[in-house]
Amino acid sequence: MPQLTDKRAPNAFRKTAQTYTSGAKTLPQPYFVSPEVFNAEREQIFSKQWICVGHQSQIEKAGDYFVPEVAGESLIIARDQKQSIHGFYNVCRHRGTRLCEVASGSSPAIQCPYHAWTYGLDGRLLGAPSMDLVPGFEKADFSLHAVNLRLWEGFIFVSLSDASKPLEQVFAPLAGKFAHWNLPSLRPARRIEYKVEANWKLIFENYSECYHCPLVHPALSKVSPSDSAANDLLEGPFLGGFMSIAKGQSLTMSGKTCALSVGGIGEEDHARVFYYSVFPNMLLSLHPDYVMVHLIWPQSPGRTRIACDWYFHPEAERAEEPRFNPEDAVAFWDMTNKQDWHVCELSQQGIASRAYEPGPYSPRESIPAAWDREYLRQLR
Ligand code: FES
Ligand SMILES: [Fe+2]
Repeated sequence: MPQLTDKRAPNAFRKTAQTYTSGAKTLPQPYFVSPEVFNAEREQIFSKQWICVGHQSQIEKAGDYFVPEVAGESLIIARDQKQSIHGFYNVCRHRGTRLCEVASGSSPAIQCPYHAWTYGLDGRLLGAPSMDLVPGFEKADFSLHAVNLRLWEGFIFVSLSDASKPLEQVFAPLAGKFAHWNLPSLRPARRIEYKVEANWKLIFENYSECYHCPLVHPALSKVSPSDSAANDLLEGPFLGGFMSIAKGQSLTMSGKTCALSVGGIGEEDHARVFYYSVFPNMLLSLHPDYVMVHLIWPQSPGRTRIACDWYFHPEAERAEEPRFNPEDAVAFWDMTNKQDWHVCELSQQGIASRAYEPGPYSPRESIPAAWDREYLRQLR
C-alpha cells in the first residue's frame, strides 16, 4: 500500500467504534500471572515468530555487535567485514561457554573467554589452540550456530525456529506501507530502558487504545485529541492507525517539531502520528519528525523490560539544521511512557486479585480486543 492518506484510500481508516465487536472482554487472570502461560508464550510465540531485536544502525560498522536475549536465549548479532549482518547463539562450539558477556561492542573477532577459540563475525571458527593435533578435526565443522535473521525496513528480526514462515511472507501486508518514513536509513539519537512490573500483554493493550488518554496523559491529549484515532489495520499481527495532531506540531515538550522531517511523508501525514503494533514485541510510532520504537521483552509473568529508541533523519543533526533537539521528543515520551507504565503496573496489581474477572472492552478498545484475539491464535 502506498502512502497513508484518506485521499488515496478513502475507506482505509475507520474510527475505532465502527470496528467494535460487542462482547469482547479482557483476558482471564492466568494469562497475566501464570508461569505455565508464560512458558507456553516463550515456546509458542517467542521461539517461533520473527522477533525484532534492533535496527541495523546499531551495528553500523564492520565488527560491531550487540547481544539480545530472545526466549531466554542469548544471541550475538554482528556485522562482518563484508558488511553482512549475522545472528548466532552466544555459545562456544568447544565446551559451550557463553562467548560475549557485554551488551554490545566492536571487535574484529569473537574470542571465547575460556580456551580462546576464536570466531569471525561471520561465525566461522578461525582459531582453536592445539586442536590441529586432534585427528579429523576440521574448523569448518565448528562454526557458531546461526539463527534465522532477516531485515525489514532496516530493523533486524530473528527467528529461533527453522519452521517459521519466511519473514517476507509474514510482512507482506506491510509491503511499501512505510516507504515514505525512510526507516532503513534513520539514526537513533537516544535509548531509554524501562523495567515495568506488569505483564507484557498489558503494554500492548495499553498502547492500542487512547480511551485512557484524557485522564492518564493530559499533555498528550492537548496536542492529539484522544478521540481522533482512525485505524486501518484492524485484525492480525499488525494493528493500528493514526491520531491527529495540529499541522506543524509534533509530540514534543515544546509542541513544535524537533527535527527535519524523517522522510518524504505526504502533506496530510504532517498532521498525524501513526501507531502500529507488530506482534509480538514491537511498537512503531511514526511522527512527522521522528520515529519511536518500543521493543518489549517479557521477563516473567509480572515483569517486562522495554527498550525505547528515538530515530531521526540521518541528516537531522547537520549544523545548518537548528531545529534538531531530540530531547524535546525524548522528554515528552519519557513522561508519557512512565504514565503508561504506571497504569499498567496498577492493572497488574488489580488483575492478580481474587476479585478480578474479565471486564468488557469499550467501543474505543477494539484494537486491544483484536490484539488479544491474535495473541490467542498464536498461543494455540
Ligand atoms: S569453551 Fe570456548 S574455548 Fe573452550
Ligand atoms: Fe498511553
